[in-house]
Amino acid sequence: MDAGVTEAFDLACWSGARLARVEQALSEWVVGDAPAGLGEAMRYAVLDGGKRLRPLLVLAACDAVLGSDEAALRAACAVELIHAYSLVHDDMPCMDNDVLRRGKPTVHVKFGQAQALLAGDALQALAFELLVPGGQAVRPAIQAHLCRLLARAAGHAGMAGGQAIDLASVGRLLSENELREMHRFKTGALLQASVMMGAACGDAPAPAVRALADYGAAVGLAFQVVDDVLDVTSDAATLGKTVGKDAQQDKPTYVSLLGLERSRAFAGELLAQALGALAASGLADTRALHALAVMVVHREN
Ligand code: IPE
Ligand code: IPE
Ligand code: MG
Ligand code: MG
Ligand code: MG
Repeated sequence: MDAGVTEAFDLACWSGARLARVEQALSEWVVGDAPAGLGEAMRYAVLDGGKRLRPLLVLAACDAVLGSDEAALRAACAVELIHAYSLVHDDMPCMDNDVLRRGKPTVHVKFGQAQALLAGDALQALAFELLVPGGQAVRPAIQAHLCRLLARAAGHAGMAGGQAIDLASVGRLLSENELREMHRFKTGALLQASVMMGAACGDAPAPAVRALADYGAAVGLAFQVVDDVLDVTSDAATLGKTVGKDAQQDKPTYVSLLGLERSRAFAGELLAQALGALAASGLADTRALHALAVMVVHREN
């Protein structure tokens, strides 16, 4: 894919219709009538906010491998539900103790801690329910593959494991390798899984899938490096969450380890790695994946 073609690609135009589909599906699938106000807390956690980067990565990877749209929409929503649940729990007083998320009071502030815990639990279960629809809409082998990818990325070897490392690292000076591992687990795993889930909706050859895995790993790590940078350089109105929390809570981050300039340079190196992987993938059209990687590194929120 040459640079001229990439520049002509309009990410806003590509993502517009897809974001609308994702929002509609999430609103349909996250029902409000769960008992005792639980549905309200679940919808509050998921709807009306968020960049929806993970769903877009699923759909872009599916486009690149010419995969099944029905499977990809379910995968896109499932990964966003896991992400939303991780945010609800991440914000709770026992973790980062945050009061602002996506420009609104956090779920535990609005609904109480017990309801926030349960909303997270229920969103996690719903994510897997979405991946195993009855009927013929999604091939059983694809359903099983999507579940395996998401379970792995959400659990002890992914997000939950990374969050455990994050909490255990407060006040500690991590080596660069340790910090990279923590970020790969807590954030990178789910972003890489988004790409792999999109790929699992089609039948791309193994070398292309390996290239997408490399792309996903680089984008996933870059995403958390930039998150660390924005916590220092941005403001609450732009991010929709409280800034300056990492330093205040003495969390090891790329900024605390390398400083701002080297962190930004590292994010740039990871972007180059991600784009290199796409170029080596042999896939015909990776423009959306290319544009999403650029967006991850150059985003302002
Ligand atoms: C924030 O993720 C939490 C991290 C994993 C660093 P996002 O920046 O993707 O949050 P939303 O979904 O746009 O709110
Ligand atoms: C959160 O990382 C990663 C998750 C698994 C939710 P952060 O704690 O840095 O995310 P923010 O900055 O609160 O969004
Ligand atoms: Mg955290
Ligand atoms: Mg946090
Ligand atoms: Mg952060």
